[in-house]
Amino acid sequence: MMKSVHALYPGTFDPLTLGHLDIVQRAAALFPRLTLAIAEGGRKTLFDIGERVGLARAAVADIGLEDRVDVIDFSGLLVDCLRETGADLVVRGIRTVADLEHEQGMEAINRRLYPDFEAMTFFARPELSMLSGTLVRDVARCGGDLTGLVPGNVARALEGKA
Ligand code: COA
Repeated sequence: MMKSVHALYPGTFDPLTLGHLDIVQRAAALFPRLTLAIAEGGRKTLFDIGERVGLARAAVADIGLEDRVDVIDFSGLLVDCLRETGADLVVRGIRTVADLEHEQGMEAINRRLYPDFEAMTFFARPELSMLSGTLVRDVARCGGDLTGLVPGNVARALEGKA
């Protein structure tokens, strides 16, 4: 464990998937403090910000990490969230080469806005690398089986929206 590092894992989390939760578990095993920061604005979402925060909190509690992982919402710039929380670095997940290019662009902008910006990326497990918010929302909308894609509480919430 890296002593005293506070990591911030930002995203839209519409909704939180098992891919995100895997990264939460892996990051929590490395860093003593992890904050999941859910972006409020930016795009139209299926779940509003309160729902996304509630779903993520419950999923984190279900894996026993509620004492180690905070779930917050934020609006505005990621670098401002980083400053306000006092986090040391950002955690992001990479599923594909396309994600790598996207992350590289975001990192460059964030470092320009905040020279101390530092990010650590985790490669998604191969069996989870096909997951996305869009995919799970589509599977739910069409009545498909969500087992293995999202945590149980998120599956129930998606079924409730379908
Ligand atoms: N497992 C499963 N799915 C994953 C995943 C993983 N490990 N990692 C990412 N995804 C999916 C998400 O579910 C989402 O899918 P969807 O678009 O189909 O719903 C997609 O990948 C994008 O992920 P997300 O992290 O939510 O969006 P993003 O890459 O656009 O970044 C923020 C979100 C919040 C980090 C970014 O928009 C941000 O920093 N916003 C604040 C404004 C700002 O500072 N902008 C300037 C810097 S870029």
